[in-house]
Amino acid sequence: MSVLTAERKVLNLKILVVGDSGVGKTCFIYQFCDGKFYPNYVSTVGCDCRNVTTDVDGTRMQLQIWDTAGQERFRTLTSTYYRGASGIILMYDVTNEGSFNNITYWLENIVHNASQDVCKVLVGNKCDKNERQVDYRRAQIFADSYDMKLEEISAKKNQNLEQVFESLCTTIMEQRQQRLSHQEHVESEIKESQVKLSGKEKSKSWCGC
Ligand code: GTP
Repeated sequence: MSVLTAERKVLNLKILVVGDSGVGKTCFIYQFCDGKFYPNYVSTVGCDCRNVTTDVDGTRMQLQIWDTAGQERFRTLTSTYYRGASGIILMYDVTNEGSFNNITYWLENIVHNASQDVCKVLVGNKCDKNERQVDYRRAQIFADSYDMKLEEISAKKNQNLEQVFESLCTTIMEQRQQRLSHQEHVESEIKESQVKLSGKEKSKSWCGC
């Protein structure tokens, strides 16, 4: 079985959810994993991890979803969890402008702590609420400028949650496929130049005879 086929069978991915305290990271993960919404706010201490299996485009994904604490006092700790992450969900609250402005902080944090090629998706939560402070267009322009996809969701109403993971996992798979194609291309170029070289050597030795 080729590496590609094996990788297509089950893909193990570490996914981190980051963003300011109270944007709804825990509720989002619980809703996605358990199909339940917990309205009582209990701030995350340190980090929490959930495992879930899902299918994206016919590929089975084993997702390890890490719920990080948004509170400032845990930020040094949060940065230690970026290691080995394939994808990061950056969450803000559409009714809280400050949480959107702070996305640049989280992006800087990612640059300093995560791998260079980590895939990211921007997620605006609580779109069931009326008191919106961040409009979709503005968030879309911002997401585009960082080459991220944008999803607006409601963890409360279970709206668009699947879409977030689909977007992120598709981006991760596309990136892996590109890397693999690039690697195959480089390998075939090396082989080709080796063949050319040995051909030259042969003709050289023949000429010399
Ligand atoms: P920290 O653990 O402190 O980082 O916070 P968090 O980002 O994990 O937030 P949490 O999931 O605990 O949610 C904070 C509050 O927002 C809770 O009171 C939730 O009930 C509420 N909340 C979360 N998601 C939604 C949503 O989609 N809509 C509405 N209306 N409220 C939500």
